[in-house]
Amino acid sequence: MTTFPENFLWGTATAAYQVEGAWNEDGRGPSIWDTFSHTPGLVTNGDTGDVACDHYHRLEEDLDILSGLGVGAYRFSISWPRVRPGGRPNQPGLDFYSRLVDGLLTRGIAPVATLYHWDLPQELEDAGGWPNRDTAHHFAEYADLMGRTLGDRVRAWITLNEPWCSAYLGYASGVHAPARTEPAAALAAVHHLNLGHGLAVQALRAVVDPAAQMSVTLNLHHVRGVSERDADAVRRVDALANRAFLGPMLEGAYPRDLIADTAAVTDWSFVRDGDEATACQPLDVLGVNYYNPTLVRQWDGASERATADGHQDGAASPWIACDDVEFMPQPGPYTEMGWNIDETGLTELLLRLHRDYPSMPTMITENGAAFADAVDPDGRIRDEQRVDYLHRHLSAVAEAISAGADVRGYFVWSLMDNFEWAHGYAKRFGIVRVDPDTRERTWKDSAHWYRDVVATGKLPA
Ligand code: FCB
Repeated sequence: MTTFPENFLWGTATAAYQVEGAWNEDGRGPSIWDTFSHTPGLVTNGDTGDVACDHYHRLEEDLDILSGLGVGAYRFSISWPRVRPGGRPNQPGLDFYSRLVDGLLTRGIAPVATLYHWDLPQELEDAGGWPNRDTAHHFAEYADLMGRTLGDRVRAWITLNEPWCSAYLGYASGVHAPARTEPAAALAAVHHLNLGHGLAVQALRAVVDPAAQMSVTLNLHHVRGVSERDADAVRRVDALANRAFLGPMLEGAYPRDLIADTAAVTDWSFVRDGDEATACQPLDVLGVNYYNPTLVRQWDGASERATADGHQDGAASPWIACDDVEFMPQPGPYTEMGWNIDETGLTELLLRLHRDYPSMPTMITENGAAFADAVDPDGRIRDEQRVDYLHRHLSAVAEAISAGADVRGYFVWSLMDNFEWAHGYAKRFGIVRVDPDTRERTWKDSAHWYRDVVATGKLPA
């Protein structure tokens, strides 16, 4: 039987735009995701986050669900345009997060606050968005505000969620907000996200409890080549996807090969002296989101190029300067996202991080699966595929721990079915079901299963 370490942190995760709703209430300003979802044709079924799970109004109910699950931590994100629309503090928005944090603490649940889970205030996008350096400084001002508001109670901070998606899906392929397809701007966004991260850590440290833990969450790609001949394709994708963030944030420098690979797109002159050192702030733990591995091959230039990277084909590719790389379909089984289920990638990724950054602990800040769950006539939701997915991936985490990796915790994505970005409500990741019409919450079998895992610290045989 697989047993986890005594102090292993168990949690679930959500993000503001995906669950809150109340998009124009109590002084909240618009974000790039409001603009994106309100633009016809960009989101499946025309879905929006206007109401989402109505979490803003059902806070107490959702806190009680977390309590019932027995989790030790809850990872949520703060909506920047709710708390600082137009660059000014919005008290009702700040009060909402204070209530959330207090509600968690009363129930013995540690709040893990993510500052940026993709909902940039629209006025900052209008001023240029992440490709504009000023955005990094605005981000630090927002971090300061949140540090002052919650810093006496929140002991775990995550600056950015998956800056890979913000930069490349937002500004290169355009399948996410703000739907721009400008490769050079996407690389400038990469840099300003790295810089913003460093500035935000500095701003938080200056005002929060000194014992607070600082972190960032990356969706690191576990990249494999079809054969040994594909080593350069693996290197190139690893540079763009992983080392573009790990380099500045953990080592204080961009990888030389990344700069060389992308030379035809940009000269990287947006990186100013001292920026890489600013991006490289001491962190307490590295957040890792994992769903599936990536398989690449050197393209022969003749056959139709495979683009099965799992991120939806947009008007352009998110893979800047990787025109000679193919993203190969991988063997099943698959989740409802079309992502292959392969937990070995998670073990390998955690061991690679342990090898490359031996003194940096990791935390799985997201892992989970979308399936088309059905409510049976008896009212039960028998989502055994999700249970199987979670079981496999938790076993993979345990394997990495027994091989020496210092993994501190695990957060299921997601607490509840929610707005899955450009897929709208069509893809459901929750361990708790949210009825699309009534928003009634119902525990799926996976929620009951997870509660038992959390309670025992063990995986059932
Ligand atoms: C991650 C996002 C999260 C959710 C999952 C399925 O990329 O961080 O918000 O959409 O994927």
